[in-house]
Amino acid sequence: MSTTTPDRKTAVIVLAAGKGTRMKSKHPKVLHQIGNAPMLHHAMRTAQALSPEQIVVVVGHGGEAVATAARDFDPNVQIAVQEQQNGTGHAVLAAQEALANFDGDLFVLFGDTPFIRPESLLRMKEARSKADIVALGFQTDAPAGYGRFILGDNNQLLEIVESKDLQPAHGDPSTCNSGLKSCDCQTMFRVLAQATPNNAQGEIYLTDLIKLGAAEGLSCHAVFCDEAETLGINDRVQLAEAEGIFQNQARRDAMLGGTTLTAPETVFFSLDTTLGQDVIVGPSVVFGPGVTVGDGSEIRAFSHLEGATVGAGVQVGPFARLRPGADLAPRSRVGNFVEIKNATLAEGAKVNHLSYIGDASLGAAVNIGAGTITCNYDGFLKHKTVIEDGAFIGVNTALIAPVAVGKDAYVGTGTVLTKDVPADALAISRTPQTNREGTGSRLREKLAEAAAAKKNK
Ligand code: UD1
Ligand code: CA
Repeated sequence: MSTTTPDRKTAVIVLAAGKGTRMKSKHPKVLHQIGNAPMLHHAMRTAQALSPEQIVVVVGHGGEAVATAARDFDPNVQIAVQEQQNGTGHAVLAAQEALANFDGDLFVLFGDTPFIRPESLLRMKEARSKADIVALGFQTDAPAGYGRFILGDNNQLLEIVESKDLQPAHGDPSTCNSGLKSCDCQTMFRVLAQATPNNAQGEIYLTDLIKLGAAEGLSCHAVFCDEAETLGINDRVQLAEAEGIFQNQARRDAMLGGTTLTAPETVFFSLDTTLGQDVIVGPSVVFGPGVTVGDGSEIRAFSHLEGATVGAGVQVGPFARLRPGADLAPRSRVGNFVEIKNATLAEGAKVNHLSYIGDASLGAAVNIGAGTITCNYDGFLKHKTVIEDGAFIGVNTALIAPVAVGKDAYVGTGTVLTKDVPADALAISRTPQTNREGTGSRLREKLAEAAAAKKNK
């Protein structure tokens, strides 16, 4: 028996070579997104619970793209190529070379099963102290399509039979295979090497590990997780279902982690959304990928954030849009109908109404008046606007970049700024106003005559 102690080294294989025929897509299945992240990232994130020494992702269909996505998540990931998709067992064997020198436990995860909780992996790890091979299963009322556990006493696992290979003698067992397996790494490869494609699908099944292992006298043990964790995504109906499950889970996790959501069912998260303590999120807020929000900040209703870093005690929205590169220092403010892109706001800077701030840096306590636009794009290149600490920009200002406004400078309302403004200067570019006394009534008479003439024509 080669059972394990809890502190044994672990390695993880994530199987991601399958095409996903039922997705009816040009793209490999594991790159379809849930929570704005490829399905694959969800499995890789779960794997982190084991603090593995090595992670190997097995790629095949769309291999380049899948490998790139895997490296995006973890630059240290190893890639193994399975040229032909001859089954889940065959896919595990494709990773043998990458793990040839690995001495420890191996966990196999599926790239198309994104909801396995870290706790379930830890339970499998624990069960390894009692059995040579551990498989994760679940109970369901709808077992069709899943591999079935044939169990002995005390959750001893005798065999896993794929749906398509079920014989009348098996009955219709309702305990199903999630796919996940754990066993000593070199044992897994050695036993799987004996598997043959003598089955309904003509494939090398990972599930045969159980029957082949048992034949050698290895002990096999089943542990269980919630059915909801094992949802495998095979078509776009399940993809939409998975998105719903992810969002509900993310909302729960956010609230249990100390964020207030006033209308949780209307808030949408990404896999990598990070919210600090006592953040308040109003209704209908969307967190695109790459958003971090610091402690005590408030994101008001109907705001859309993506690739944005929001510091502590910041107020955003309602109706604000933060695009990639928006970086808001503590206690800054971004108000309604404001778009911020690739711009930093230093501490206490305010852009409260109807403005576009792109490719800019705003110093501490800068105040941007309503309707201000940084004209950052000339049709060919993007240019930068720099506004130093304490500067005040009057409403309806157009800053034609590249342009800089010095510390504590003041820009008058309606200015079209084409030149840099020195520190502490006042810049105004608008035409002086003229008032012509008594002209109002004369103008009105003229306009009325013109209108009457047109009507009588
Ligand atoms: C598999 C299990 C089944 C289990 C179900 C749970 C086997 C034989 N069957 O069936 O018992 O109930 O998952 O969701 O293990 N893959 C490869 N290379 C291949 C084949 C598959 O990398 O040659 C990958 C796929 O990309 C996918 C995963 O393995 O991520 C599972 O493959 P899939 O074909 O979806 O298996 P199921 O039929 O769902
Ligand atoms: Ca599947």
